[in-house]
Amino acid sequence: MKKRYQLVGIICIIAVVAVMIAIWYFTQVHGMGSITFVEEGSVVIEYGDSYDPNECIKEIDGALKQPVEIDTKKLGEQTLHFLVIKDGREKEFTYVVMVEDTKAPIIEVSEKEVTLAVNDDYDPNHYLVSVKDPVDGDLPQSDEKKRGAYWLSDDVDMSTEGDYTLTVLAMDQAENEAQETIKIHVTSHRNSLPASHSYTGGYDSGADPYDCEPYYVNGILLVNKKHPLPPSFGGLDATAATALGELQAAALLDGFSLPTLSGYRSYEYQGTLYNNYVAIDGQEIADTYSARPGFSEHQSGMAFDVGAIDNNFGNTEAGIWLREHCHEYGFILRYPQGKEHITGYMYEPWHIRYVGVGSAREIHQRGITLEEYLGER
Ligand code: DAL
Ligand code: ZN
Repeated sequence: MKKRYQLVGIICIIAVVAVMIAIWYFTQVHGMGSITFVEEGSVVIEYGDSYDPNECIKEIDGALKQPVEIDTKKLGEQTLHFLVIKDGREKEFTYVVMVEDTKAPIIEVSEKEVTLAVNDDYDPNHYLVSVKDPVDGDLPQSDEKKRGAYWLSDDVDMSTEGDYTLTVLAMDQAENEAQETIKIHVTSHRNSLPASHSYTGGYDSGADPYDCEPYYVNGILLVNKKHPLPPSFGGLDATAATALGELQAAALLDGFSLPTLSGYRSYEYQGTLYNNYVAIDGQEIADTYSARPGFSEHQSGMAFDVGAIDNNFGNTEAGIWLREHCHEYGFILRYPQGKEHITGYMYEPWHIRYVGVGSAREIHQRGITLEEYLGER
């Protein structure tokens, strides 16, 4: 009998303790706010990106007392503090995220293809516009492969005709690498004049970049052998650049890559290019395919060479796509085949000019040149 009372007593004590633990659990733990996070270590944030720390949270019971701060401009591990409030009680949770730099440096070159005459001066730095890293900023040049720098490598032999490659390589502090190549054609061969070259020259004797105004007809800038631009005129046209991006994206969707090979060119840079072509081919031939400084549409910032600088480009699928679709993005093929006597230049299946969608569509449908459209001849 006594044993039985003892047993009942023990059971009662256990029951009371269990109830007390349950009450403690519900008030202290269960009653508190709580948070579950996405898998630890799975959140990696790109340096400098904007990031909402709430994305680390899978579930939350309660509310965040204050917004959680994150500095994405600090590389490495960072502990985030989440203060959860529920029924007036606060509890802090921590979660570790990683800020990493995975973006490669950006190399900008002025030309993707360069033609030089044998024994010409060759300075690879001439074609390099900038090497910038989103995290490390401007990268300095180095003689060899090194973190936080760029270096050049080429196989150019200026004494021998041939096709060479200049490569620009860059590596940021986080060891992200980037590369750009420029084709260097070294030639001593003088191109022969096309059979019909009635369109050579064609410069107006009175046309002088140093004494002219940009020439607009119905709001459209016309740049040709009669209408130059002043040397100070220039810069990439933002509307044209945006339209080019849209054109290139649409081409890619259709399976064609149309890289930009040349865009805005300053008066001085056009002068360098033109003089170089004159050295290779002589002025008469150079005038059929390269504009004298001040007379290039590239100086307007609205003309681009895309795809490939190759006469056969117009027969490729990408070249045909460009000819058929560029008007939808406000561009025209500026130097079409058979219109050399009007435009003053040889056929260039790669050179497009932004004129706006309405004008581009009409020029395309009527199969005319910008000169004809503007009633300039
Ligand atoms: N190749 C075109 C005509 C230019 O030099 O602007
Ligand atoms: Zn061009």
